[in-house]
Amino acid sequence: TYMVEGGSAKNFARCKRLMFDEPALLPYTKNVVYVKDFQAGEITREKIRLFSLRGKSQSPKVEKIRWDIESAQKSGFPHFMLKEIHEQPTVLKHLVASAKKLDNKLARILKSANKIVVVACGTAYHAGIVGKYAIEHMAKMPVAVDLSSEFRYRSIIIDNKTVVIAISQSGETADTLAAVREAKIKNAKVVSICNVVGSSLTRESDFVLYTHAGPEIGVASTKAYTAQLMVLYLLAINIAKVKGALSGYTISRYQKILANIHNQARLILKKDLPALSRVAERHHNFGSFLFLGRNVNYPSALEGALKLKEISYIPAEGYAAGEMKHGPIALIDEYRAVVCIAVNSAIYEKMISNIQEIKDNKEKIVIIAKEENKHKKV
Ligand code: BG6
Repeated sequence: TYMVEGGSAKNFARCKRLMFDEPALLPYTKNVVYVKDFQAGEITREKIRLFSLRGKSQSPKVEKIRWDIESAQKSGFPHFMLKEIHEQPTVLKHLVASAKKLDNKLARILKSANKIVVVACGTAYHAGIVGKYAIEHMAKMPVAVDLSSEFRYRSIIIDNKTVVIAISQSGETADTLAAVREAKIKNAKVVSICNVVGSSLTRESDFVLYTHAGPEIGVASTKAYTAQLMVLYLLAINIAKVKGALSGYTISRYQKILANIHNQARLILKKDLPALSRVAERHHNFGSFLFLGRNVNYPSALEGALKLKEISYIPAEGYAAGEMKHGPIALIDEYRAVVCIAVNSAIYEKMISNIQEIKDNKEKIVIIAKEENKHKKV
């Protein structure tokens, strides 16, 4: 048994260390004792002891790391991020297949709520915006989305009829933990969406929905993000059920769509990677990117820009396409590439007219669209 640092992360460095520690321990043990805030520990050859800061002996709780050694290795991929991108179909398939009947406790929490506030950071925040669109559309319930670092320092208006959904891959992001504590002081119920079993966030939540994506070792979130989206869509369906907002027929139609997402993800990874590599080769020297999307693909645009910044160190901005005329259009000559997400949806035509606004700069446009629209002239 090893004692590893745990509890709530006070800073970023510590939280990253926690994520890397568990895979590092796997060749030796799966037994871990997490040290909580205000606890001290001692390991000798004979035993492990835990104390409160006043010196009172406390019994150590041995927990199991659920990940296996295989999932903490690159399995032939050149780096973890690529491996984790390729794991998405399996993760998504598993999430839908293992979606259980709505838990009674969660049903009670949702039933008594009249408002939802999502708190998260980075990629998880973008998942939260998609969640807002999905829950408002399916369950007809008001949802606000806040960056944890804003929420915790604002005069927030929440009460015991508010459900705060905290999204975090690691469950150790300091701002999100602080936001959750703030929410609890105001008597809101906290439902977390988290990947790491036993993390600080899960211990402090009233209810936990796990993303079960396995260890995400790449710093930029990939499979954990799509898993968060899937959990949010499944949750939106459940809220719709609890609130009686959708007919049984519509619910089963949505469920069928979700059950097929993993096949579509697999197809993209199989078929589209060569085209994506070509675009990357053509554009990798470009100095700045603009990502545009509408509706649920507005957060996709934000996420695309974040990924480019984090992974390629290329300045990038994500924008709601409808806002283009209120700012970015003035800079359009400066963006070397404009990535437009124009998948089929109710606002497809709106997106096309946004693309047409980029008039004289057509050669810099990259469009993400359905294959059937390949030959349509924009
Ligand atoms: C960032 C990571 O620093 O932390 C992002 O680079 C991540 O990928 C963000 O989305 C929030 O982390 P978490 O663990 O709370 O989801």
